[in-house]
Amino acid sequence: MLEIKNLSKVFDLDNPDKKPAVDNVSFTVNKGEFLSILGPSGCGKTTLIRMIIGLEKPTTGSILKNGLDITNMPPSERGMGFVFQNYALFENMTVLQNVEYALKIKKETKKNSRDTALSMIKEVGLLNYVDVKPYRLSGGQQQRVAIARTLALKPDIILFDEPMSALDASTRLSLRKEIKQIQSTFNTSIIYITHDQEEAFSMSDKILVMDESVSVQIGSPEEIILKPVNQYIQDFVVDNLKYKIESLSKFYRFEK
Ligand SMILES: Nc1ncnc2c1ncn2[C@@H]1O[C@H](COP(=O)(O)OP(=O)(O)O)[C@@H](O)[C@H]1O
Ligand SMILES: [Mg+2]
Repeated sequence: MLEIKNLSKVFDLDNPDKKPAVDNVSFTVNKGEFLSILGPSGCGKTTLIRMIIGLEKPTTGSILKNGLDITNMPPSERGMGFVFQNYALFENMTVLQNVEYALKIKKETKKNSRDTALSMIKEVGLLNYVDVKPYRLSGGQQQRVAIARTLALKPDIILFDEPMSALDASTRLSLRKEIKQIQSTFNTSIIYITHDQEEAFSMSDKILVMDESVSVQIGSPEEIILKPVNQYIQDFVVDNLKYKIESLSKFYRFEK
């Protein structure tokens, strides 16, 4: 459904020594597929999805959606939704107004905007909070509003940029399940950026591991664990996960 071909971004084109922020990255996302982009801070993850969304112009490469070249299409015409770390809700509007806002602007969605908004708010479990303003909600609830607002526009694909970074551990766990639930209910394709190995491995059909602007390995979680392509994948992914499991199993005997 989405095809990313040799995408690169150099921010400072006048500087011949400048390293690209994203260097020749290619991958595909199928309908209903959950792809994570996993890599340490500064490796180019946000720049990569900003190009896919249309907020950043690629230096080279192309983006195809259902066979159509959308590389230079404005963000609003791409049929993509996005959820960022910092929610970006309107503070002076209630939950309902936040979710309804974008629906009321578009002619196609205006008529049923109230019903659509309410059903999405229900989907993320916030029906008791429709008239509440964001400051009265927890971080997890605010992120649910942001997700409802994105879902309401019925995007074919949703891009998440480290949506859990500001949340505590238990909220992350429940939100993880909800995002998976939403994916199966709506059969939405998802691109999910994270620097957290555990998050990527627990949610994804496919993982793209990045290091310093390049794509190092793309594969299913099993493929990456069983066949790491180099020492970086072994260290950053496999050993890291092993360490987490071992440090827990000291205290806990897992049931067979
Ligand atoms: N608007 C920008 N102008 C110049 N450099 C940028 C800009 N945005 C990001 N960069 C640089 O690109 C690199 C990748 O950043 P980013 O995509 O934010 O990484 P990540 O999301 O993986 O942490 C970093 O070196 C960052 O400083
Ligand atoms: Mg980032």
